[in-house]
Amino acid sequence: MRVLVTGAAGFIGSCFVRLLLAEQPSSEVLNFDKLTYAGNLENLSSISLDPRYRFVHGDICDGELVDRVFTEWKPDVVVHFAAESHVDRSIFSPLPVVETNVRGTFTLLEAARAHRLSRFLHVSTDEVYGSLDPPLEADEAFPLQPSSPYSASKAASDLLALSYVKTYRLPVIVTRASNNYGPYQFPEKLIPLMISNALEDVPLPVYGDGMQVRDWLFVEDHCRAILTLVEHGREGETYNIGGNRSLPNLEVVRKILEATGRPENLIRYVTDRPGHDRRYALSSEKLIRETGWQPLISFEDGLAQTVEWYRSNPEWVNHVKSGEYRTYYALNYENR
Ligand code: NAD
Ligand code: TYD
Repeated sequence: MRVLVTGAAGFIGSCFVRLLLAEQPSSEVLNFDKLTYAGNLENLSSISLDPRYRFVHGDICDGELVDRVFTEWKPDVVVHFAAESHVDRSIFSPLPVVETNVRGTFTLLEAARAHRLSRFLHVSTDEVYGSLDPPLEADEAFPLQPSSPYSASKAASDLLALSYVKTYRLPVIVTRASNNYGPYQFPEKLIPLMISNALEDVPLPVYGDGMQVRDWLFVEDHCRAILTLVEHGREGETYNIGGNRSLPNLEVVRKILEATGRPENLIRYVTDRPGHDRRYALSSEKLIRETGWQPLISFEDGLAQTVEWYRSNPEWVNHVKSGEYRTYYALNYENR
């Protein structure tokens, strides 16, 4: 199997490539990545010398380059992770989000349409369902009610991808996962930001009252689900992927303080995010019923592994927190 993975220098894509090469000895991988602030080839240092791995530096919006890669490398499967993936950045600056997430996905779909593929797996998010009051849980038929430019751009790209199934019979699968966490996550998202701040004894900025609820999925469990669906998912279908562990943010932050041995008074309540979704909740019953997949890592084990990884990799953290990160941090958190 020749697998073109977009965005494999990012958090989830790099985990997927490591898993794929470990689980499938005969697979070959091409990583197509623009290396934005979130893309980091250090995430793939453990496999970068593997002869089955190749890297092409490029933008998924560059139709000519994308088409050349399809023509020359002839992938059987595309797994599409590349995206502008952060809600707060999408609020400050929606244009690159729409550009990459909508136009970039369109460009890949067009290339896929012109070449023969056995699978196009489009990686999406439970955020497309918007905020749900308890006890509601979104299944795959739940209405799309995205709140942020990020989630709206993902919903748009999901619908575009699904339209290529009906119109062109492209073998598309859409996956919608809940909040991921684990090693190599860029420290702009809740869990890695709180861990790295705690380890540096810097205040932990909790938005609003901290009672917003997210469902937490360990990144390796997510990537196992994607690999399972590449092999066994049904064309034209959408699959939710959840960790089956809903927690208010404040509880997550308290667990991080406990795991890092830091005091409660590091918490700072700061102005809420505009349009902040109160609660995400999804049902993964379809995925479980059709494939037997289950999340294997409990939140406590996954968090302990993640804290240990950040503690043991200060060079990686220092590298990604230099330069652009400081500008972003000041923009989002100073005077909040
Ligand atoms: P990330 O921000 O860590 O990585 C994104 C990667 O895409 C980076 O390597 C970046 O360089 C690359 N990229 C960005 N724009 C590009 C472009 N125009 N052309 C080529 N490459 C480009 O993201 P992540 O957290 O690993 O998320 C991966 C995917 O999973 C995204 O599609 C995201 O919407 C989805 N998702 C993420 C989560 C989560 O909790 N992080 C949950 C559900 C779904
Ligand atoms: P985030 O990791 O950005 O994921 P998403 O908004 O896509 O679910 O945020 C997770 C939750 O944590 C969300 O409710 C916002 C909150 N949050 C904070 O309270 N403080 C922060 O500094 C960040 C980054 C997030």
